[in-house]
Amino acid sequence: MSQDLFSSQRPDIQEIYPEVYLLADFVDTQPLLQVIWEIAAQSPFRKMQTPMGHYTGIELTNCGPYGWVSDSKGYRYAAKDPLTGKPWPAMPQSFFQLAKDAAFKSGFKNFNSDACLINHYQIGDKLGSHQDKDEGEFDSPIVSVSIGLPATFQIFGKTRSGVEKELMLHGGDVLVWGGDSRLIYHGVKTIKADKQQPNLTERFNITFRKAVKEVKNKV
Ligand code: SIN
Ligand code: FE2
Repeated sequence: MSQDLFSSQRPDIQEIYPEVYLLADFVDTQPLLQVIWEIAAQSPFRKMQTPMGHYTGIELTNCGPYGWVSDSKGYRYAAKDPLTGKPWPAMPQSFFQLAKDAAFKSGFKNFNSDACLINHYQIGDKLGSHQDKDEGEFDSPIVSVSIGLPATFQIFGKTRSGVEKELMLHGGDVLVWGGDSRLIYHGVKTIKADKQQPNLTERFNITFRKAVKEVKNKV
């Protein structure tokens, strides 16, 4: 899709890097925050052990059929929360629809997310360069919703190092990436306090993904 055509039709969407779309101020975050705390009451935020014997730098939880987990054996998606032994809290319909709408507006039809990872960043937290590659398919995009303190999102592109693009993500912004950019390396710079918004003390990021490939029954 031509970027010019796309952005002239939808001025609220910017293709900030090939097949990476910023939907600025796309969603009202207050209702999302409330739902996040309801989810966290069932499956609390926690740091998870990593295969290297450390802990994730950021607290996280999940909702939906599958949740991203990490332990000494590696990274994967699991239907149950290892902390509670129960299934992850259900993905609220409003979350599912938000992800579907943001994907659709970015040109990715029929995004049916089955995994919703919620990261909870404190001031001083950062996320190093990585790819989202633990999913069972890469045809679906990633839909990432920012809440709370602003963050500098970094795109490294096809290799782990060498920043190709940096952009600020504010609360309410949604970033969608997919297609040839589905496996780009990306990260988040150290979260800082925001003098303009002294009431904000933390950041949340919700990422919607398709973790498990749908097996189409042959008829
Ligand atoms: C992630 O890469 O999983 C999170 C991105 C973000 O916090 O904006
Ligand atoms: Fe990521």
